Amino acid sequence: MSTAPAVEVESLVKRFGDFAAVDDVSFSVEPGELFGFLGPNGAGKTTTISILCTLLTPSDGAARVAGFDVATQPGAVRSSIGLVFQEITLDDYLTGAENLKFHAVLYGCPPRQVRERAAPLLEMVGLTDRADQQVRFYSGGMKRRLEIARGLLHAPRVLFLDEPTIGLDPQTRAHIWAYVDTLREREDTTMFLTTHYMDEAERCDRIAIIDQGKIVAIDTPSALKASIGSDVVTIETADDALALEQVARGLSVDGELTDRGLRLHVPDGEGFVPRLFEHLSVGIRNVNVRRPSLDDVFMEYTGRDIRDAEAGANDQFKMNAMTRGFRR
Ligand SMILES: Nc1ncnc2c1ncn2[C@@H]1O[C@H](COP(=O)(O)OP(=O)(O)O)[C@@H](O)[C@H]1O
Ligand SMILES: [Mg+2]
Repeated sequence: MSTAPAVEVESLVKRFGDFAAVDDVSFSVEPGELFGFLGPNGAGKTTTISILCTLLTPSDGAARVAGFDVATQPGAVRSSIGLVFQEITLDDYLTGAENLKFHAVLYGCPPRQVRERAAPLLEMVGLTDRADQQVRFYSGGMKRRLEIARGLLHAPRVLFLDEPTIGLDPQTRAHIWAYVDTLREREDTTMFLTTHYMDEAERCDRIAIIDQGKIVAIDTPSALKASIGSDVVTIETADDALALEQVARGLSVDGELTDRGLRLHVPDGEGFVPRLFEHLSVGIRNVNVRRPSLDDVFMEYTGRDIRDAEAGANDQFKMNAMTRGFRR
């Protein structure tokens, strides 16, 4: 058994005109790992995944998947990977089982492999009973599950999932994750997924936080949270700016003003709160103490809240569209 990385990316760049959607990104994913890209809309997640799946060519740098170079060995890469993309790409007028067969023919899977794998995969994603029904009668969650089964049909070494649960309700998202966990137990597949959901990032072995085309941090979720090295105390007061000044002067604690109040990082949150009440002369409306979350990690490494970053991404998209010279 080789222990070469399942995915290896070196100084990868993807430019659209003058704009670098992926800007000098390097990382590697170990075999069997569940690796996640966490970032807001427009961060460069889909662009990176598209390069790894040979759907886009890199502008600079190199990437290998299952040991094959994406630029010079695209065929070998394609036969080593499975893909579950943001948009649903099933044929609505075929049944679930037919969709799997159709995909197998398209990708040149041996018929024997399809016979052996289709039924257990359908079972795994809970679609055995619906296998002979046309896909147009499936719910969004069922379609996604069928796509995951389809992505696994040719026993890929690496499965790429681009925002696999986007737009699905919380219950269906939980289901999909249960299948991902089952999958990890039964198959030794490396998984690379992108998400902008913090709870999904938490489930990964390691995550890379990507923002504006760059990886700003990469580690296990717990190591990233520990790297902040303190508790987070958020307070809402009658005058947050004044409170910040008093906290800085009286307690020597730095903080930042956010639209959800004043955020402070302290080693011992519970011990800090009584001192806070002693030192502040402004009225305190709300106090919250917690261990750092991935939201805090995102904030720490990008200086922005992931939700604000999301909102800003729409403007970014419009701007790119303009610089690309889009016409109606
Ligand atoms: N074909 C393209 N031409 C020009 N700009 C693009 C193209 N595809 C993506 N972009 C831009 O690259 C950036 C990253 O996009 P994308 O990789 O889709 O982000 P994410 O998947 O993280 O939301 C965005 O600003 C997007 O507008
Ligand atoms: Mg995307």
